[in-house]
Amino acid sequence: MKKVYINTMGCQMNVYDSRRILDALFVLGYEETLFPEEADLLMINTCYIREKASDKVFSMLGKFCQIKQERKNKGLSTYIGLAGCVVQALGDEVFKKAPFVDLAVGPQSYHRIPELLAKLERGQARSIETNFTSDEKFGALPVAQARAYSAFLAIQEGCDNFCTYCVVPYTRGCEYSRSASEIIDEAKQMVDSGAVEIMLLGQNVDCWHGLGLNNDKEWGLARLIEELAKIDALKRIRYTTSYPVDITDDMIAAHRDVDKLMPYIHLPIQAGSDGVLKAMNRRYSVEQYLSVVDKLRQARPDIAISSDFIVGFPGETDEDFEKTLDVVRTVDYAQSYSFKYSPRPGTPASLMKNQIPENVKSERLTTLQALLLERQKAFNLKFIHQTLPVLLTEKGKQDGQLNGYSPYLQNVHVTLPEEYLGKIVDLEITNATASSLTGQTIQERK
Ligand code: SAH
Ligand code: SF4
Ligand code: F3S
Repeated sequence: MKKVYINTMGCQMNVYDSRRILDALFVLGYEETLFPEEADLLMINTCYIREKASDKVFSMLGKFCQIKQERKNKGLSTYIGLAGCVVQALGDEVFKKAPFVDLAVGPQSYHRIPELLAKLERGQARSIETNFTSDEKFGALPVAQARAYSAFLAIQEGCDNFCTYCVVPYTRGCEYSRSASEIIDEAKQMVDSGAVEIMLLGQNVDCWHGLGLNNDKEWGLARLIEELAKIDALKRIRYTTSYPVDITDDMIAAHRDVDKLMPYIHLPIQAGSDGVLKAMNRRYSVEQYLSVVDKLRQARPDIAISSDFIVGFPGETDEDFEKTLDVVRTVDYAQSYSFKYSPRPGTPASLMKNQIPENVKSERLTTLQALLLERQKAFNLKFIHQTLPVLLTEKGKQDGQLNGYSPYLQNVHVTLPEEYLGKIVDLEITNATASSLTGQTIQERK
């Protein structure tokens, strides 16, 4: 068998895509390796969201080029492939920046990889595919294998929101929803191959809509989740990412009514000032956002909420930034991701005049992250001496240890034998830090 090494950068959608790429390559006789030196095909699934992410691609390509040379000295041939959002954003430019890349595919063209590889093997020149045809892609890829107790499943791709800082609408294209039957079939295949939990993915997942089963009328996300919950061996359902004001009342009710839907929602606010939100082209005010939080908590009082934040967006004043800190204190997030604003080529915000100096962005990020971490720790500490059902998903770093996730997506460590992998176990929480909990076994759930 030939070997492929794939390095995945960026979001969960890329993690899902890399699995699908591996499935497509498996059919061609490739198996995955975790060691780049032994790979016949070296790939990076790239991310373009911030400057740092896209720089990382080119430094890793430098390493790949060295490996290719070393392998060549041993008489071994190697192809270098790029996939993902950098390819979509840069197009042919990638070959100028990295002439040794043999094949490049945008996020909608993974299904063309076998064809591009065949061309290379016939001695044809390098090639690139960047067509936007999600429907063709999903249909053409082979059956998805879960290979994990907690699996990602893309149900919606692309984004029509055009936040002024963001490249995703350009790299992933306009919104596309897969059909309910395609998603349910894929979920069943994942469960058959071992998945206990499925995380439904979409850039704007609440906008998922599709023809229902048996040509029933259009379904929304809540109806889809209700149907997925009927799969017996599927024990947990999650979804991400939500656009705050696109959450429907049905979805809020699902958090109250569907037991398998986990009490966790990623609800990125980005900034706590209405002026900044407007300049970002986010379609909500802070008040509207907080009212969504209230409704969710009324339906499911224990729901854990996480968010993304951008600091130093053009024109953000000290007062604006203070308002972001106020929102953090009000909502009490369980977890969060925060970033310095990064101007991206081709986006409206990159052309705004009032860019914020790097040192101010760094200071604000440090302040925000300290507060978020303090809140995250306080959230975790509340669980000491409580019992939580934990899905054990992988071996821990220490011998004899397993890692898993609570319903609130907290990382939990426990000392248990490997046969507990893939099981949901009731654990008494004995210790907590900002980043994880430690538990001891009480009993396994049936
Ligand atoms: N589809 C998701 C996530 C998009 S990217 C959503 O709409 O929420 C993930 C996060 O990256 C965003 O929520 C935002 O906080 C951050 N991000 C996007 N563009 C950025 C930029 N130019 N600079 C800094 N952070 C950015
Ligand atoms: Fe980017 Fe905004 Fe779309 Fe999220 S909603 S992917 S931040 S444009
Ligand atoms: Fe990055 Fe593309 Fe995801 S830019 S965050 S990999 S959608």
